[in-house]
Amino acid sequence: MCGIVAYIGRRQASDILLEGLKRLEYRGYDSAGVAMMNGKLHVARAVGRVANVEKAIHDRGGFKGTLGIAHTRWATHGGVTERNAHPHRDDPKLGHGIAIIHNGIIENYASIKKYLAEKGHTFEGETDTEVLAHLIGELYQGDLEKAVQAALREVTGAYAIAVICEKEPDVLVVARKGSPLMVGVGNGEYVVASDASAIVSHTTQAIALADYTVARITREGFRTTTVDNIELTAEIRELEFDLEQIELGHYDHFMLKEIFEQPAALRLTLKGRVDSGKGQIILGGVGEHARRLATAKRVVFVGQGTALHACMIGKYLFEDLAKVHSEHDFASEFRYRNPIVEDGAVVIAVSQSGETADTLAALQEAKQRGALALGVVNVVGSSIARETDAGVYLRVGPEIGVASTKAFTGQVMVNAMLATFMGRRRYLSQEHVSMLLRELEAIPAKIERALEWSGRIRTATAKYIHRENWLFLGRGVNYPVALEGALKLKEISYIHAEGMPAAEMKHGPIALIDNGMPVVFVATRNSQYEKVLSNIEEVRSRGGHVIAVATEGDEDIKRLAQDVFYVPECIEMFQPLLTVIPLQLLAYHAAVLRGKDVDKPRNLAKSVTVE
Ligand code: G6P
Repeated sequence: MCGIVAYIGRRQASDILLEGLKRLEYRGYDSAGVAMMNGKLHVARAVGRVANVEKAIHDRGGFKGTLGIAHTRWATHGGVTERNAHPHRDDPKLGHGIAIIHNGIIENYASIKKYLAEKGHTFEGETDTEVLAHLIGELYQGDLEKAVQAALREVTGAYAIAVICEKEPDVLVVARKGSPLMVGVGNGEYVVASDASAIVSHTTQAIALADYTVARITREGFRTTTVDNIELTAEIRELEFDLEQIELGHYDHFMLKEIFEQPAALRLTLKGRVDSGKGQIILGGVGEHARRLATAKRVVFVGQGTALHACMIGKYLFEDLAKVHSEHDFASEFRYRNPIVEDGAVVIAVSQSGETADTLAALQEAKQRGALALGVVNVVGSSIARETDAGVYLRVGPEIGVASTKAFTGQVMVNAMLATFMGRRRYLSQEHVSMLLRELEAIPAKIERALEWSGRIRTATAKYIHRENWLFLGRGVNYPVALEGALKLKEISYIHAEGMPAAEMKHGPIALIDNGMPVVFVATRNSQYEKVLSNIEEVRSRGGHVIAVATEGDEDIKRLAQDVFYVPECIEMFQPLLTVIPLQLLAYHAAVLRGKDVDKPRNLAKSVTVE
């Protein structure tokens, strides 16, 4: 969701803030703004990308000062207008000169707004954040930290905020509950941001603020308290983050970089965790709970978006390899449908960011009902990771492209390891596990082969680029891959695409097929291959153009499909790790061919921290 960056130190803040905003822009990018303290408060805001606010600052001769806050927005409350862009100020009539940036949602903003309006406050926009700015101003009595604490005692909802005030020109106050916030600790300077990517170019020492923490920061030091002013201790940790991971390098887009990073990323996912020779899996994060996993009666995967597709594959993997009753659900549905969580239930939350509000809430709901809560998460120390009883990190590195790619294969890889881990404790023989692990270890090199098809996939995609409706079909464990292929295409190229089980097509969607409609089949060699071929015939006979993802060496399929993208052979259960690759490339090339902004598709946000 929104990105936050704040700076206090001895250097000019404006460059640091704008650089930080550009790194955080993937979190939200419909408007942006900067507030700088330089004797007085200077605020610039603009609709659109960070570049627009940069230009606004430039047009005003630049902003001087060594204390400032900045924000890039993904609208929740109030439309995308300059008035609704952050930073927001308190009521100018009070003369405090307070400015605030905020990520999250103040749920009780309406009642606070009413109370403040009765006291004579007038508001310029519709956002909940402006209400919080006014509340802090209303409660301000010469101490910004106290005013922020007092205001936060009144609000419900989620927030990561940074606040500055003209009356205290050397103080930065930040706080968090439910939305991530980190304080980078440099030499006489601090960079606060909603994620490490805006911090690492300045310092690798940082504090991940815990929920309900308020930090008062000056150039000389900082203190952390609760909203009730009880002092806390904060632990400074080394950020395990390499700047190269968040730079484009020679790639045109982060999405393409991340697609090509998958072999290396998955090698790290596996590293030190699997030993095919010994038929052993070592998952330090779940070791303690191995017994509960082994005796689990049911596994429920919850997630949203791409992570949900990894959940669906998890269900197939767990049923097949661990022989445990498994299901998946949208986290948003699970949490509200009064779910049955019986003894022996395990809930696995799958999430790249570890911050998706619905996934976090579903996990909390399941935990409260007695389930063992596991996390399959990428971002270390994220809210979901902290909430779980145990978990396995993806280790695929930061994912910047809004369309998730390497996190998806990381999630599937971890689900495959977990299923094998559980299977071994239930009924799989050591030889069987050795075979499965050899297959997993071979995946990265096989993905490298699948990636070699990128150029040919681009050429094929160009033939269909003017078609507005696409179908993606698969069966069994490749059905969620069809869903993921359709999602990738629609989210970055805005082409309408639907994914479904290949057999389901006959029950309605077949009516859509007209002459030349592109229909993408996952048609690799596996137990359902023959059935998929029949479905391909059904499409062909109605004039659809078939694009098939097939197993290397399958020449027969060329008779049925106009275009074939090959992936190496692999056991059925692990095929999604390979079959998704051509679909990621197809979506990427389609978006580029259509001239779309691949890494920042319209209306989307990388991480959705609101319900
Ligand atoms: C957003 C993103 C998707 C992502 C989903 C779940 O919708 O645009 O790419 O799959 O959130 O995010 P998570 O961080 O929980 O995996």
